[in-house]
Amino acid sequence: MTLLHLEDVTRTVMPPDLPALTILNGVSLTVEENDRISVVGRSGSGKSTLLNLLGLLDLPTSGVLEFDGRPVKSYSARERDRIRGASIGFIFQQFNLLPGRTALENVTMPLLYAEGRQFWRRKTIAAEMLEEVGLGHRLESTPDRLSGGEQQRVAIARSLVRGPRLILADEPTGALDLDTGQNVMELIDAVATRTGAALVTITHDPAIAARSRSHYRLDHGVLTPDAELAAAGELA
Ligand SMILES: Nc1ncnc2c1ncn2[C@@H]1O[C@H](COP(=O)(O)OP(=O)(O)OP(=O)(O)O)[C@@H](O)[C@H]1O
Ligand SMILES: [Mg+2]
Repeated sequence: MTLLHLEDVTRTVMPPDLPALTILNGVSLTVEENDRISVVGRSGSGKSTLLNLLGLLDLPTSGVLEFDGRPVKSYSARERDRIRGASIGFIFQQFNLLPGRTALENVTMPLLYAEGRQFWRRKTIAAEMLEEVGLGHRLESTPDRLSGGEQQRVAIARSLVRGPRLILADEPTGALDLDTGQNVMELIDAVATRTGAALVTITHDPAIAARSRSHYRLDHGVLTPDAELAAAGELA
């Protein structure tokens, strides 16, 4: 099933006192359930801007962006917020955990916005999610007592606790060493496989990109399939 579809999308911003700047130019991409997509590109090539569109945080300046077969611009801002909360999980380089709160409290947070069973059973569900990322023994630890890799695992648990259909990861391993980074990616992949979610990963790291099944490169706002990485993936 197609989750997201972009056709000839541009994103232009108008900074005050500066000429208009086209950050994304003619971007087309389809994201299906279970997809594993990587996007690599230099700093400033438009990766985060693209991720903000995929996450329904911004709208295209022109072109088509559809979520679940419906143009995103036909949703109200409130509907987009609801879809994002229920169906999209973001993972960032900075873990963005609430500092004074325990791991369990951090992971419970998104479930406060859920309904029915997810809301009423939120503590149990959050504890199970932390168990799944290997932190069942650290439920009561605050972020300052956790290593970088552990903090990222809490952040992953928080992003995935509502069972999103689309996981968007922006440099998820950027602040971690090589081994910890690969472990974190394995973890995200395992949760995505369990839930059937699609995963789009933005990365500078070819080893992280090689884990995906579809490879793209973003260059000055233009998205193209990355033949080199695709060939490397076939050999692996
Ligand atoms: N709201 C904005 N106003 C003006 N310029 C912007 C705005 N948003 C992004 N840009 C510019 O657009 C370009 C792309 O930004 P973006 O954050 O998407 O890059 P990126 O590929 O994620 O880079 P990095 O790898 O450093 O995170 C940059 O040159 C940035 O300065
Ligand atoms: Mg970025």
